[in-house]
Amino acid sequence: MTVTQEVLQDSDKLRYLYANSIKSPVFFAEKMLQIPVYSHNIQYINDLHRFLIYRGGRKSGKSISTAIKLVHLAYFGNYILTKAEQRADIIVIAPSQQQTDPIMGHVKSLIKGSPFLAPRILKDNEDEIHIKYADGRGYARIITRPIGTTGQSGRGYEPNALAMDEIAFIPRKAIIATIPSGVATKTHIMLTSTPYGDAGYFYEKCVAAKAGNARCRENGYDNLNGKWTQYYVPSTDNPDVANDQDYLDELKTLTHDEWETEVIGNFVSGGDMLFAREHLEKAYGDYTRPRKYRLYMGVDVARRGKDETVITVIAVDSKDRVYVEYCKSLKRSTIPETAREVERVYDMHSKLGGIDRIFYDSTALGAGAFDISQEVGLPVVEVVFTLQKKAKLYVNLVSLFEKANIKIGPNDKLMRQLGYMKKEYTQNHLKPQTEDHDDYPDSLALACMAVVADEEFELIRDDKGTPMHMDQMFN
Ligand SMILES: Nc1ncnc2c1ncn2[C@@H]1O[C@H](COP(=O)(O)OP(=O)(O)O)[C@@H](O)[C@H]1O
Ligand SMILES: [Mg+2]
Repeated sequence: MTVTQEVLQDSDKLRYLYANSIKSPVFFAEKMLQIPVYSHNIQYINDLHRFLIYRGGRKSGKSISTAIKLVHLAYFGNYILTKAEQRADIIVIAPSQQQTDPIMGHVKSLIKGSPFLAPRILKDNEDEIHIKYADGRGYARIITRPIGTTGQSGRGYEPNALAMDEIAFIPRKAIIATIPSGVATKTHIMLTSTPYGDAGYFYEKCVAAKAGNARCRENGYDNLNGKWTQYYVPSTDNPDVANDQDYLDELKTLTHDEWETEVIGNFVSGGDMLFAREHLEKAYGDYTRPRKYRLYMGVDVARRGKDETVITVIAVDSKDRVYVEYCKSLKRSTIPETAREVERVYDMHSKLGGIDRIFYDSTALGAGAFDISQEVGLPVVEVVFTLQKKAKLYVNLVSLFEKANIKIGPNDKLMRQLGYMKKEYTQNHLKPQTEDHDDYPDSLALACMAVVADEEFELIRDDKGTPMHMDQMFN
């Protein structure tokens, strides 16, 4: 007989287990979910207050800790939550429709991995899981919903608990529409994110919150009158991160701002941003692809000091509005591998009508990949990234954002790199400045050569409406 079976058959042991689990989610995680809880996450996990914030670096444990809390609230819903005698509704807000939410991923594996909880699953499909309460008197539904949809879904929306992950660059309006009044259900809310600049809803909530752990207090955030409680955890507090030399080596390639924000979890000043925060927020998130569009690709090839090649595909509608369809990197690839990936992404889009032009950064190593792509017959346009050309491409991209004529989808990597770009001028020329981590924006800027948003440029199109060679436009 396993320990679990023994406990299940001994009512005293079971009572002890339940009584302590209700009070302590950490105890619950260790004994009933049977997973280890890391010491840097204990205080947050055990805090049963209604308004919680977890600000942390990458891999600091935001999603896993929040998942443990949600499973705990679900299993003991009728003991902890208000108006949940028969049923608790626990909502996980996902950043987009397509994206599987990391919290929900953890929630499902925690439930399925527990000998106590797994047999109590009532329903399990793509975006929800239902489990019976510990005492069997009711059940909880844990549901993922994309941001922005819950607000509109009507009056009946009153969850008992709500978790929003990685919300630092979700526009305030969308967040507020999602947060229920909670008057009747006294909703428990958990906001978790890596920061993004020193502005926005998440930043303001953090500034106004009281500190939940010593780290947060030492970090300078502790408003004693705060209604929310903030926990702050840098990535390096996670022993798995601190002991993972490969990962630490990878982190060494981060720029100063990336390191401060994404590893240390600090708010870095957004002054001098090349792309204004409000414009970026408007562009971020789900969109519906227009019915009629043309497709273009931008390829930014990795160079010395840069470690990623990025391929971007955009759809452009009849009003020259841009929708980012695809934007992904390839790590440390050879020239033939890069060319092969360009071809694969090109082929992948043939079912969407095919890509009209590929704007290819042919600087340095890019030249080799460009040659191969040209030989296999892809519609490539060669772009040599001089400083002047780069400045023009960025003026063009900035005005697309200013006019709100671009949607980048829920792409966090692209969003972050755009946000880190700083404005700088040399002899009245804009000089985008990024300490070298601009692969995502560069490939987007290349793709956006297909739409010239700035009046300064005159776009020369062929009879299909497709822009002609770069040098005719940007010389
Ligand atoms: N019980 C656990 N199961 C899995 N990972 C855990 C657990 N406890 C702590 N961790 C650590 O948390 C890290 C991932 O945490 P996650 O919540 O995904 O991070 P993030 O802060 O980026 O959301 C893992 O890499 C692992 O080191
Ligand atoms: Mg996470």
